[in-house]
Amino acid sequence: MATVTELLQPVELDLETLLTDLRSLIGAGHPILQAAAEHLFSAGGKRLRPGIVLLISRALSADGDLSARHRRLAEITEMIHTASLVHDDVVDEASTRRGVETVHSRFNYRVAVLAGDFLFAQASWHLANLDNLDVVKLLSRVIMDLADGEVKQGLYRYDAGQSFATYLEKSYCKTASLIANSAQAAGVLSNQTDEQLKQLHRFGRQLGLAFQVVDDILDFTGNDEQLGKPATSDLASGYLTAPVLYALEENPSLSGLIERELSLDGDLEQALHFVRDSQAIPRSRALAEDFARESREAIQWLPDSPSKRALIELPDFVLSRLY
Ligand code: IPE
Ligand code: IPE
Ligand code: MG
Ligand code: MG
Repeated sequence: MATVTELLQPVELDLETLLTDLRSLIGAGHPILQAAAEHLFSAGGKRLRPGIVLLISRALSADGDLSARHRRLAEITEMIHTASLVHDDVVDEASTRRGVETVHSRFNYRVAVLAGDFLFAQASWHLANLDNLDVVKLLSRVIMDLADGEVKQGLYRYDAGQSFATYLEKSYCKTASLIANSAQAAGVLSNQTDEQLKQLHRFGRQLGLAFQVVDDILDFTGNDEQLGKPATSDLASGYLTAPVLYALEENPSLSGLIERELSLDGDLEQALHFVRDSQAIPRSRALAEDFARESREAIQWLPDSPSKRALIELPDFVLSRLY
């Protein structure tokens, strides 16, 4: 299976430019906020989201060229993503991200909250300057969804009675909304029909859900080093993801442990054991595979090009992180 760099090869140079441009865009703020934002940008994420925007933009462009607005959309997408990570790590009190200290550990909580706000605000400003109301609506909705998702996640902590639908809604808000709406926005900038825009949204939505289910599986099966962030922290924080929800169906005694917030000695180990010693992980994998297939199917209509072929392989790449 290709690595992310190989997969994003058709837009590799675009992604290099993106990093330089992002740096100069955030350069306008207060030095401390700039340092905080720069800290995470330099750590280097996978840049999957701007990669998707750029691949879609190239796949839809007749001459294969990218407009300045398409590039700016990709930058806005990565800014929003990074802002959401800075805030998510504050909410989770996480110590590492992208293999380096989180912003609040490196600086402090106040700086992290402000740095996240700063990035969201910068993103909004550049979004407005694209001068396209449809795109503004799509991406500002994402910022609402992100906040909504964090709140939903908090409300359902340690709630063993929550439905699978609740988990999927939360995952849409926290992860899939950004990928879906930025994919659609790339289509808007390329003057696609309503039906094509719907399919681009669906591609991003199903890919985002697959991505989140995979991330949730990796929280149980990966280690800190592989992930660049702390493993087995979801359940410990009371966040019940797909593997736990499936394990609860199989083993109702797990719910007692969760309802008492894993507060007794050995509760967390016992709960992790229930999850790992059940069909929960294979079932979660099957769920991610379904989302990945639906994502792939949504973009079959794109004209053939290296960018399209990369997009078609993306859902499998997301799954390959499990192996
Ligand atoms: C992390 O996303 C947040 C989730 C949706 C799980 P990525 O794993 O894409 O993070 P980076 O950008 O590569 O660090
Ligand atoms: C990912 O949610 C989405 C956002 C960070 C907004 P997670 O809470 O699963 O992300 P990680 O696991 O902290 O990267
Ligand atoms: Mg988190
Ligand atoms: Mg996670």
